Amino acid sequence: MRIHLTNAGAITLRDPADFRRLDVLIDPQPQDRLEQAIARIGRREDEDHIRLAAPVLRFLSNQAGDPDWEAGFANMVAYATKAGWVDADGHIRAHITRNDADDVVSLAEFKAAMRGLPGGISIITTGAGESVAGMVVSSLTSISAEPPMVGFFVHQTSSMHRVLLANGRFVANILGEYHEGVMSSVLCAPQGPARFATGAWDVSPEGMPVLTDAVTSLECEILCTQTLGTHDLIVGKIRRTTCSDASPVVHYKAATHRLSQCEPAVA
Ligand SMILES: Cc1cc2nc3c(=O)[nH]c(=O)nc-3n(C[C@H](O)[C@H](O)[C@H](O)COP(=O)(O)O)c2cc1C
Repeated sequence: MRIHLTNAGAITLRDPADFRRLDVLIDPQPQDRLEQAIARIGRREDEDHIRLAAPVLRFLSNQAGDPDWEAGFANMVAYATKAGWVDADGHIRAHITRNDADDVVSLAEFKAAMRGLPGGISIITTGAGESVAGMVVSSLTSISAEPPMVGFFVHQTSSMHRVLLANGRFVANILGEYHEGVMSSVLCAPQGPARFATGAWDVSPEGMPVLTDAVTSLECEILCTQTLGTHDLIVGKIRRTTCSDASPVVHYKAATHRLSQCEPAVA
């Protein structure tokens, strides 16, 4: 198995059922971010080795509790103990492998590619009273039906980020054809109640703004978050929905398009 300290913020475990090897793959990243990531999985021993906390491996494996995985893991720890690689705290010595091959596209190439991806437009709202907050996103996506979950990506520097995480809840309001004014108010007004001055806004039982004439409003409780590069993935469990028969709009090539004016591709 191999722990991967990615430069996107995520820590993953590759090949969790390969008990014949154990190492730590490190993407190129600033030293302070790297040391913080190492502290999440154990501690640094020297330039080339990390002492891994066994419970971290168990957690990241997603397989702890499975009898076959447990037997394999116990054998690996026993082997490492015999070789003198396990200290008194149960931390296992693992070699660092540096990932030098991390070729990615440029920011311009990324933007050009993403311009071709159409997406619905939603306003995410959170907070209550004077602390309400909102933002426009095109990253809302369906995740799972059972349990019902949606997710979206929020930039860590966005003015809603802190309120969203502190509140632990959000409403995803999917925009329709007649929401240009609502959208520009949320995009242009200062963060807070001023963003909701335009539009048919009501409040959820928790006080979050709900757009009453939205295509759909999904009231969600945050289940988990994951930092990925500049953004955080926010996953919400859907507690309540309101649907209308309004026609949605689509963001494509930096413009908003009416879906009702598009020809169906398949009759
Ligand atoms: C159509 C559209 C889609 C957007 N989608 C996202 C998104 O998915 N995630 C995100 O963080 N920002 C997205 N933005 C940018 C935010 O709406 C917002 O402009 C940005 O977070 C900075 O504004 P603020 O900090 O004043 O809210 C989108 C903007 C537009 C116009």
